Amino acid sequence: MNTLSKKTWRTGVALLLLSSLCVLESQPAQAEYGDVVINNQSDAAGMRPAIFPHWFHRIRFRCKVCHADLGFKFKAGGNQISMLKIIDGEFCGACHNGEVAWSVENCDVCHSGKPGTPTQVHGNTVQKLIGGGADKPAEKKQ
Ligand code: HEC
Ligand code: HEC
Ligand code: HEC
Repeated sequence: MNTLSKKTWRTGVALLLLSSLCVLESQPAQAEYGDVVINNQSDAAGMRPAIFPHWFHRIRFRCKVCHADLGFKFKAGGNQISMLKIIDGEFCGACHNGEVAWSVENCDVCHSGKPGTPTQVHGNTVQKLIGGGADKPAEKKQ
């Protein structure tokens, strides 16, 4: 899956330039609004939860690249992602392969969540409205 077209890249670059003012101001540190925390297995495996910075990626690629071509389901935690698959070039590994983007040995860049943070969309309004129980939004703590 190293066939992301030049056109996709050009579109990405153009969008990036257009939105660079606001983007540069807000380089994501850890989970920020709209980030997806993926923790189906990480905690259990002794890794920090994976953080997927959705907007960071959305401004670089069209939705279709991930949600159609790479098969990511539109649901936080809704994909059976594993390191084996990633190393095999599936999911995150379609790009994080040292070609399109830096490769998998940068464990901590992805596994940067606070241990114990459940799978969620960070700052999700619905979760806030329902929240208050076991699922206390993580942003309060960070
Ligand atoms: C670089 C890949 C990538 C791109 C580009 C991308 N997404 Fe996603 N999206 C993901 C991943 C990964 C998840 C989380 C899936 C998981 O947790 O297993 C996700 C989750 C979602 C969700 C469910 C969580 C939520 O925030 O409600 C929606 C809705 C969504 N994406 C919409 C979009 C739309 C609309 C676009 C284009 C504007 C887009 N995505 C672009 C990878 C991407
Ligand atoms: C590009 C992002 C990314 C990088 C880099 C990355 N991981 Fe992961 N990793 C994930 C995602 C996403 C999951 C699924 C998380 C979940 O469901 O809890 C995952 C899952 C895991 C799991 C859970 C069990 C399994 O085997 O799938 C372990 C352990 C793990 N990673 C270790 C590592 C180690 C060690 C490294 C560095 C050598 C690493 N990861 C690098 C994204 C990444
Ligand atoms: C369609 C390609 C693509 C996919 C799929 C993808 N990424 Fe990325 N990702 C990128 C690119 C490109 C960058 C920027 C690389 C750079 O700055 O050198 C990036 C950067 C990142 C960063 C760093 C953001 C920052 O602030 O610098 C994280 C964290 C990350 N990705 C996690 C993930 C995880 C986790 C997944 C899978 C759930 C994933 N990515 C899937 C292309 C992708």
